[in-house]
Amino acid sequence: MRESRDLLSSEAVSPSPESARWVNCKSVCVSAVALLVLGVGVLSALAVGPLHAQCSVMWSIHIPCFDASSLLVNQIKEWTTESCPPKSQKCLYSLVAVNGDDIVATHTTPVMRFVDDITFNFSSSNADSCEIKGHSISRSWYAILDSGTNYLNMYNLMRGSGLSSSPTFIESTSDRVCTQYSSTRHKLDP
Ligand SMILES: *[C@@H]1O[C@H](CO)[C@@H](O)[C@H](O)[C@H]1NC(C)=O
Repeated sequence: MRESRDLLSSEAVSPSPESARWVNCKSVCVSAVALLVLGVGVLSALAVGPLHAQCSVMWSIHIPCFDASSLLVNQIKEWTTESCPPKSQKCLYSLVAVNGDDIVATHTTPVMRFVDDITFNFSSSNADSCEIKGHSISRSWYAILDSGTNYLNMYNLMRGSGLSSSPTFIESTSDRVCTQYSSTRHKLDP
């Protein structure tokens, strides 16, 4: 902010062609470098993860889908609170819809107020086991990296609801379908 203001004011007080050319070159060079940095960033993000910040995860757990769904719905409701504990994302959830067992929700980041859309879809191959397909995606079109926010939107609910504590709880995803998954997972408790 201050830098761009300084640039503007130096442009305003330097009418000579020489310095005008310098300002011109400077802004072109700065834009070129910025584009290059952006390009490299986009390419390296593309190489490992989804183009747009999002996360798909499959979980399986040996409890009926109805129970797993109820636990997640309760956890979302508990964390609709606007008052976020310091540095916590365990707040600002919103339950959008429940269709059968399927859940549609949103999460908003406490500081920047970015909104992510979350769905949990349930299926079961037998009565007492459940497969949960989770998907979280950032609404802002320009989001490429998310520091694992889309993964944490869902994982925090698994953890908070107690589902992840079950010895039968299995998680499967990868950096290809879940933005910054492995680096985020690495920073969490086992
Ligand atoms: C997941 O569930 C939602 C809500 O029922 C539904 O709209 C959506 O189509 C489902 N997605 C898949 C892949 O089944």
